[in-house]
Amino acid sequence: TTGNRGLIAELIRDVPDFPKPGIVFKDITPLLARPSGLAAAVTELVADSPRDIDLVVGMEARGFIFGAPIALALGAGFVPVRKPGKLPGETVSETFALEYGSETLSVHADAIAPGSRVLIVDDILATGGTIAATAKLLNSLGADLVHVAVLLEIAGLGGRERLAEQGLADFSAVITG
Ligand code: PRP
Ligand code: MG
Repeated sequence: TTGNRGLIAELIRDVPDFPKPGIVFKDITPLLARPSGLAAAVTELVADSPRDIDLVVGMEARGFIFGAPIALALGAGFVPVRKPGKLPGETVSETFALEYGSETLSVHADAIAPGSRVLIVDDILATGGTIAATAKLLNSLGADLVHVAVLLEIAGLGGRERLAEQGLADFSAVITG
């Protein structure tokens, strides 16, 4: 709803020059701390997502916050995509450039049965590096990537275009800013 989306926009705080000069950090902690804000975020992410999902994939760390409640709401399981050295089993990994720095993400090689209908959830789409790397991991495991849902799309960084180039056209953002 527009009410929810307005509340979400109000509760995401811009922090200039974090973590580096020139970067405006989108801080979701005020949103998370407000019960109505957290509920609005989960409600709208679920509203934007398809129903027939087997697995929700969320990326460490902020993708975990929204991924798990969305998985519960959709009756799906949750699979974590993690930063290095955290998963005990056999993993597949992707390294990519982030808006600030570089990152490696990993997922358990047996986490996704081939053909599973997967929803990717994260808090923010910026350059799209995080979601693009996650999609590569999941494609390598034979996932059916049904939809990508984020809370906030930062416009002007080419993220949406990058996802479209990767075949991830089925994308939604609760708010764009
Ligand atoms: C942030 C954010 C997204 C990503 C978006 O995560 O939570 O996952 O950046 O940027 P991109 O579209 O340019 O990849 P970050 O790596 O800062 O770590 P965190 O989730 O652990 O806070
Ligand atoms: Mg993140």
